[in-house]
Amino acid sequence: MKPFASPNPTSDFHSEWLHTLVEFALDGIVAMDARGRIMAFNPAAEKIFGYRRDQVLGFTVSEKLIPGSFQKSHESGLSHFLTTGNKDVIGRRVEVSAMRADQSVFAAELEVVSVNSGKSPVFVAYIRDISEKNQAEQEPGQHAINIKKTLMQAILSMSRIVEIRDPYTAGHQRRVAHLAAAMAKTLNLLEERIDGVFLGALIHDIGKIAVPSEILARPGKLEAEDINYLKIHCRKGYEILAPVKFPWPVAEIALQHHEHIDGSGYPQGLRGEEILLESRIVCVADVVESLTAHRPYRPAYTLEKSLAFIGKRAGQCYDRQIVAVCSGLFKKGYSIDAIDMDELNWMSSLS
Ligand SMILES: [Fe+2]
Repeated sequence: MKPFASPNPTSDFHSEWLHTLVEFALDGIVAMDARGRIMAFNPAAEKIFGYRRDQVLGFTVSEKLIPGSFQKSHESGLSHFLTTGNKDVIGRRVEVSAMRADQSVFAAELEVVSVNSGKSPVFVAYIRDISEKNQAEQEPGQHAINIKKTLMQAILSMSRIVEIRDPYTAGHQRRVAHLAAAMAKTLNLLEERIDGVFLGALIHDIGKIAVPSEILARPGKLEAEDINYLKIHCRKGYEILAPVKFPWPVAEIALQHHEHIDGSGYPQGLRGEEILLESRIVCVADVVESLTAHRPYRPAYTLEKSLAFIGKRAGQCYDRQIVAVCSGLFKKGYSIDAIDMDELNWMSSLS
């Protein structure tokens, strides 16, 4: 018996070239009658489905090759074609779910040709297993998402380090992150940049771990020498973060968040747009949060007084548009809240 048996053998159908074409085709070729019974099954189909042809010949496509959940739609599609001649699938390449002998389901590309239309049509299906191709296409995207998630978790973990050593700075960073992200949203930044502002703000003072705790915790006004020591935290933060290639400018935010647009800030004395937009946002959020918080050497400013402070310096120290956005937020009833780290950890662990 010829391995690819024809329902209506003719000398043409059995010609050598046709036999070779079918037997050596890389695509699975399955022929079925009008009732969906398998009449032919080439070697590529055996490889794709994991059946020998004698295990499927005479059985319906539906019971052998189609996953349970798709059997009904396959059967109704077939009868729809037979009764109406509608060629929804015929002659088109479509993506379907197919089932192997071991019952595993895979993605397949399918093209069905109606060989002899009329009373008793025969269908020939060309099938290609595309599950590996689909997986390869999806993997780079999923890989990138996983890397981003890991980097986000690394930032949260760094924030935890600061929290263990200096709970005051940690609480400050969480509140600055909350306010800075709200400002970035109001500025209609792309989601990716809002994430950057948020994450950068969350560790903008990480360089303070290089500042002796007695300076950080010293009550009363700091001496000039202490202030100079404190100023190293921008560069230290940059040194800590820069070696990691984050997709957000978190190292630059740590470095630049004390720069002023008139060049009077530190550590580089950058001016205007030399300072990243993200850094200018975090700078204003940092000042407002610091002023409204109690310090050992001064009581907390009221919100009005804090907003007046940045308003007075808008266009000099702080970006005028960002100051306006910040004031606008509070006028609309925004109040600074702290980021819940447990919630963030949980969210960043989701797939
Ligand atoms: Fe700072």
